[in-house]
Amino acid sequence: MIRSTVCGVGSALPRRVVTNKDLEQRLETSDEWIVQRTGIRQRYIAAEDETTASLGEAAARRALESAGMTPADVDLIVLGTSTPNNTFPATAVEIQERLGMRHGFAYDMQAVCSGFVYAVTAADLHLRGGTAKRALVIGAETFSRILDWNDRTTCVLFGDGAGAVVLEARDGEGTIADRGILASALRSDGSHKDKLFVDGGPSTTQTVGHLRMQGREVFKHAVGMITDVVEDVFRKADVSAEDISWFVPHQANKRIIDASARKLGIAEEKVVVTVDLHGNTSAASVPLALAHAVAQGRIKRGDLVLLEAMGGGFTWGAVLLRW
Ligand code: ACO
Repeated sequence: MIRSTVCGVGSALPRRVVTNKDLEQRLETSDEWIVQRTGIRQRYIAAEDETTASLGEAAARRALESAGMTPADVDLIVLGTSTPNNTFPATAVEIQERLGMRHGFAYDMQAVCSGFVYAVTAADLHLRGGTAKRALVIGAETFSRILDWNDRTTCVLFGDGAGAVVLEARDGEGTIADRGILASALRSDGSHKDKLFVDGGPSTTQTVGHLRMQGREVFKHAVGMITDVVEDVFRKADVSAEDISWFVPHQANKRIIDASARKLGIAEEKVVVTVDLHGNTSAASVPLALAHAVAQGRIKRGDLVLLEAMGGGFTWGAVLLRW
């Protein structure tokens, strides 16, 4: 049985850090309010020369380096993003070009904050179906470009960045002792589309638009949706919360992360939290957290790792893999 196995991970952040104190200078907000409500202490904000493509390329190069590979070794790029460099072509294709790749294929996956979880699941299907052998799966965002910087209810929450993994099709035994992706589940429900959206687009306003969110409404649905899809993955793989080595959730809000872990019965010390450092980086948040935990020596080969995300749409999903 083919298993899509992680063999490299990398990340990239913009040069500039913006702290909550920095935001206090320009908005009616406070470090205390932001930390209490969200757990966010700082975020990285892209300069003009830093784009979704440049950050995605940098993360991809680091992931390839950690896998001991070059761009010649991969034949698929799937990029989770909602902030592409251009409406088209896909930013994945731009990253392909930046990496000097003229072979294989590349496309963008648009599932907002669930983008990386969706992209990993799509890449897994390509590897298991034989349409690719090795994939770069990237989450890269420049949400700072679609924020309304006069709206304190949203602009303090988000940041920019990118993370990437290299997946390789390898033979497994078909048991949960295998390394690689063991189970995944994806969901969406467009009846929630007005709770978190961007108020512009090519076919409607011919503008890029700004992010709009009913924060309380998102909060209300998040924990139930996250725990439901994670429990589905547990059932598919026949594992329970105690079997998990690391829980790497989407980093939107510390309160949502804590409540989800509590409801699932996952011990606090197994939860990877980076929302304090990065803010909510949408599709980049899970691979950024993965790269952070690997760099700290926490996630190690053989560990059972649970990824989860929920975002605009709503979209949500979870992936269980052995590192
Ligand atoms: N600084 C200071 N005060 C603020 C700020 C701010 N940045 N923003 C809002 N306030 C005020 C409000 O105006 C309101 O004041 P009022 O009572 O005088 O009207 C008060 O704080 C409370 O506002 P609420 O919106 O009710 O605050 P709440 O406790 O719900 O927290 C938050 C808001 C943090 C957005 C919360 O609802 C939340 O985390 N929601 C989930 C959002 C999320 O995680 N989204 C991302 C998930 S999907 C994705 O990642 C794309």
